[in-house]
Amino acid sequence: MVTTDRNDLRMQNAACGYGLSGIDYEDNEKSMGACCCLCRLIDVAQESSGENMDRSKPRALATGRSWWLLPLLLYLAAIAPAGLLQARAQPDSNGFITLDCGLPGPSYVDGTTNLTYHPDDAFTDAGEKHNISQTEYKMLFGSLRSFPDGKRNCYTLQSLTAGNKYLIRANFMYGNYDGLNKPPDFDLYIGVNFWQTVDGWTQEGAALTWEAIVTVPDNFVQVCLVKTSDTTPFISGLELRPLKSSMYPQVNATQGLSFLRRYNLGVTDNYVRYPDDPYDRVWFPQKIDETTVISTDKMVQNSDKDEFEVPSKVMQTAIISHNASDNIILGWSLTPDPPPPGCIFILYFSEIEPLPDKAVRQFYTKINDEVGQDYMPRYLQSGAIFNKNPQRGNGQYTATIKATASSTLPPIINAYELFFVISTAKFGTESQDVSAITAIKIKYRVTKNWTGDPCDSFTWTGLRCRSAISARPRITSVNMSFSSLNGDISPTFANLTAVQYINLSYNNLTGTIPDVLSQLPSLTTLDLTGNNLSGSIPPGLRKKIQDGVLKIKYDNNPNLCTHGDSCTTTKEKSRLGIYIAVPVAVTLLVVSVIVLVFLLKRKRKDDAHSSLQLQNRRFTYKELEMATKNFRNVIGQGGFGKVYHGSLEDDTQVAVKMPSKSSPKQVMEQFLMEAQILTRIHHKNLISLIGYCKDEKHVALVYEYMSKGNLEYHIKEQNLTWRQRVQIALESAQGLEYLHKGCNPPLIHRDVKTANILLNEKLEAKVADFGISKAFNLDKCSTYVSTENVVGTRGYLDPEYHATMRLTRKSDVFSFGVVLLELITGKPAILPAPDFISIIQWTSRRLRCGEIESVVDERMNGDHDINSIWKAANVARDCTAPTSTERPTMTDVVAQLQECLVLEEARAGVDTGNSGDLNSNYSTNANTANASQRSAAFEMVEMMDTGPATR
Ligand SMILES: *[C@@H]1O[C@H](CO)[C@@H](O)[C@H](O)[C@H]1NC(C)=O
Ligand SMILES: *[C@@H]1O[C@H](CO)[C@@H](O)[C@H](O)[C@H]1NC(C)=O
Repeated sequence: MVTTDRNDLRMQNAACGYGLSGIDYEDNEKSMGACCCLCRLIDVAQESSGENMDRSKPRALATGRSWWLLPLLLYLAAIAPAGLLQARAQPDSNGFITLDCGLPGPSYVDGTTNLTYHPDDAFTDAGEKHNISQTEYKMLFGSLRSFPDGKRNCYTLQSLTAGNKYLIRANFMYGNYDGLNKPPDFDLYIGVNFWQTVDGWTQEGAALTWEAIVTVPDNFVQVCLVKTSDTTPFISGLELRPLKSSMYPQVNATQGLSFLRRYNLGVTDNYVRYPDDPYDRVWFPQKIDETTVISTDKMVQNSDKDEFEVPSKVMQTAIISHNASDNIILGWSLTPDPPPPGCIFILYFSEIEPLPDKAVRQFYTKINDEVGQDYMPRYLQSGAIFNKNPQRGNGQYTATIKATASSTLPPIINAYELFFVISTAKFGTESQDVSAITAIKIKYRVTKNWTGDPCDSFTWTGLRCRSAISARPRITSVNMSFSSLNGDISPTFANLTAVQYINLSYNNLTGTIPDVLSQLPSLTTLDLTGNNLSGSIPPGLRKKIQDGVLKIKYDNNPNLCTHGDSCTTTKEKSRLGIYIAVPVAVTLLVVSVIVLVFLLKRKRKDDAHSSLQLQNRRFTYKELEMATKNFRNVIGQGGFGKVYHGSLEDDTQVAVKMPSKSSPKQVMEQFLMEAQILTRIHHKNLISLIGYCKDEKHVALVYEYMSKGNLEYHIKEQNLTWRQRVQIALESAQGLEYLHKGCNPPLIHRDVKTANILLNEKLEAKVADFGISKAFNLDKCSTYVSTENVVGTRGYLDPEYHATMRLTRKSDVFSFGVVLLELITGKPAILPAPDFISIIQWTSRRLRCGEIESVVDERMNGDHDINSIWKAANVARDCTAPTSTERPTMTDVVAQLQECLVLEEARAGVDTGNSGDLNSNYSTNANTANASQRSAAFEMVEMMDTGPATR
């Protein structure tokens, strides 16, 4: 590391460890330079301070050995009251957080700054405390905390203001605390962003300090130590200081500054920090040979909009070169070279001598390659010049201050800072999720690796997250099974608003199930098996079960009432531990023929909510006649018969499907199959059955009315936005996922296509037509169903199924992939003449040549997020992989499409705005849309017309 000793500082630039030949200086000029070939921060202070340091002593960051090393007396005297410890997980009245890591005893006051240093126990929940034996290191460097366990360990600094700027300083002094004589190396992170590698120790007594200025995205920030080798990370001190938002304009939400140097020029000893610098920056003294020191006692003012607020005490001293023709050069050789984009020098100037008449001090700066404007420092007013573009220079960084031709006086400089830019572009997990999961961690005293960001690289054990390029990660799954959890179920789970899966099985949880969990919009599975819960399933959750959007598993909770009002406990029920999705229970009731279905009249909605039972209304033929105005308005037609539009007494719009009397037996079978399936599956993205009619002469099914017709029509005739397309794809995928995973036994749709995806008034998508769906028996440990005939629709048919007659859920995935391609391209599954090729081939040919835009539906006018399109195209490609094992599951597809939607919404900055446009857009087309139901899914026999699709 630093090979420089005092002599180096006296070197002229030509003698420096690196050549300046590449830089455009005048020949022969006599440049004064602080040309220091330093690679590390440490020791700089001593070397440049002009003092003769005693080399035999360990060198600390601090100049003037007295900086951190207070007299022992003071240490003993400054004993803070006990009990203070816990109260200190908060900033003090300045907003400062000041931690002496590993400090065993009470807080103490530093005699120089009057700042109170606190133990760090309340800020981290891991690590071991150690003392450093060398007695001269008391205070900050007298103790440390090491982290032998876990890959990542973090400090959480709280009660900050999201969006504000903070200075964070981390101090390290190894001091051979572990007797290994091996200073460790490890990485530092601020939140989820890499900050700095801590290594490059020269000797065991060396101290390192790293400082960063960042904008924090949340009301807390984490500083994490990450193990990168078999050595053990540790930290001696951690400080946080709030800055004004106007300060350091180089720092914004996506980039920060990491500190390399900060000097107060023209001084030989004593650093300046708090309270002289209200932000507690530490200004090291630096005196440069062959320059002249000037100083003033007068106050140097910051201007009104000062972006740096350098303290007057720092600005009151300056150096000037001996002659106007001499340049001042600040040169640094940095090893390793700071990462791109590079370094920023900030140079501070103030005139501190009253200038004689006609005297002019004017100069310009050159920072590596960037030349600044001519500049005249103002009398007793501080000003700053910095390079606008970060510079990189193979480790060589120089700032030259050079008088202009009209200057009569030599150049001046009072102080400077040198930083390199760090990226803070990566955002941590959504803060609401972080707060919720942290509260859960605290409540249940989770001791696993639950530290740092929940979703980042070292995702907390048991969590799963969803991340997207332009959105913060969200927690989607929490598995705290077998975690010895005690107490009740924390209502805080309800704050994890993106969670889909919660598993709290096999713990000792007691109390009742909080109904607030029903507010989780995406929750599909709640596993509470094997606890000691009591009470009953609360109404909100029961409703979700009934709607088919939630499964609750609660076996082995002896005191839990599981049957609404009739309080039967799980003990009395089957111990199979099946998912108690209500529709499954209903399956038992649906005995092959519709006639046996309940005779219940359709109840009012509120009734429906409180009951776990299914209501399929039984209509008389007369009622249907009335509802359809004597079967006047045909909205669909096929080999089986017709679909009519109808309107019930309460104005509910319905679609009534009736087979014709002459329908073949096979058609009647399918008709009944669909009825059977629809009475047991319920999901917001599956078409729902309102009722049926069955008497000696007539059979009919009554569905909810989907006023916008089918997706095939919309792709062909309507100009859907990309957001609408993704939304439709996502909703259809959710419907299919439910068939595959939510139903018991699972169902394979077998005829997924755009014609079978229907849209309602709000353009919400529902999958329809279950006439040829197949139940899939999980008990047999088989992953496929053998079928006698291959059925499906040309253009959508899984080639593997076609070849093997083995039907799997992945066949639906394949067909869905085709639907997705249609949404992206706006083209049908099989391209019309002259192409006659499948959309899969068409798309993959074009994508092979690289350009996504060549397949995207032109009617979107490029108005879409390109990453979202790419992602969707990738999903479609995976879904349509020739081999079923290479295809994703519908669950994967749903997750991917959610990300597509997030990307697109982030681009458009919308979530609700669209629906208004949509309606107005569609109202004019209502008639056409209705007509399109002609080919809608009610045509379940459309495929039958052409026979099984064996081609
Ligand atoms: C460190 O030193 C303090 C005071 O001398 C003592 O109380 C504490 O137990 C020591 N800690 C360790 C880990 O040795
Ligand atoms: C949940 O965690 C338990 C215990 O760690 C584990 O056995 C189980 O497989 C996990 N379940 C899922 C779905 O990850």
